[in-house]
Amino acid sequence: MPDIGFLNGRFMPLGETMVPVEDRGYQFGDGVYEVIRTYHGRPFQLDAHLARLERSARAIELPMPFQTHEWQGYVAEGIRRGGYPESKVYIQLTRGVAPRDHLFPVAVRPTAVMTVREMQPLDSTLRAAGVGAITVEDLRWGRCDIKSVNLLPNVMGRQRAKESGAFEAIFVRGGEVTEGAVSNVMLVRGRVLITAPEGTRILSGVTRAIVLGLARKEGVSVQERAVGLDELHGADEIFLTGTTVEVLPVVRLDGAVVGTGKPGELTGLLSARFRSSLG
Ligand code: PDD
Repeated sequence: MPDIGFLNGRFMPLGETMVPVEDRGYQFGDGVYEVIRTYHGRPFQLDAHLARLERSARAIELPMPFQTHEWQGYVAEGIRRGGYPESKVYIQLTRGVAPRDHLFPVAVRPTAVMTVREMQPLDSTLRAAGVGAITVEDLRWGRCDIKSVNLLPNVMGRQRAKESGAFEAIFVRGGEVTEGAVSNVMLVRGRVLITAPEGTRILSGVTRAIVLGLARKEGVSVQERAVGLDELHGADEIFLTGTTVEVLPVVRLDGAVVGTGKPGELTGLLSARFRSSLG
């Protein structure tokens, strides 16, 4: 079965899914996206992802081409057509195809693209041992709450991380830790879980919200507040959350050991709670 593509309401093999060069996503990065994965074959937190897609689209004045129930149907059909044990669904909405001009085109329909591929889980030894991260300056724009396809700083950051032998790049803006290039960042000091607050500097992660909920249920004290870089360097534990990383321990930061150098206790507890919440 080939990977699944979808363009403006029609399914087709991914290799045949073509968008014209004058698509505004291609020329201006004028679009938004979501990444959704399945557990047990079912899309995880689909409604939260679709709600965020709608928020992102509204924030850039992009009309939604489909209603929520239509998206739900398309996502379900894409997963069914793919037939993978677990799927990774990518949805992208751009402002459509028009001759290049910064102004919004008039009477142009948005381009809706979806791809469905097999979800490849992270290497389990990596997950068990924990990963390295580096900090990089947060050069992104002022609306990181919008899941925009403009990912150049994220791309550059992750490439830099890889070249340093690390997994993730953690953005720091004006001395404050914001989030990772593909994840939200949490740290533990004593028994307190600390993470940057929602707002325009971070993406409001679907996984972030779930993990904070699980932590509160465990009676862990949670602080959503500004986190200084020094505080991150002095953390007992650090972990990442996200659709692709789930709950992922960070054991090295900028080449230095985090805590004991092993995945921390609270990280392990929340990772286990996250796993068991998946049914
Ligand atoms: N990214 N912050 C950023 C900048 C992200 O790109 C992501 C996810 C997250 C975590 O959000 P969530 O828990 O809703 O997946 C935080 C996706 C997976 C990506 O771009 O591939």
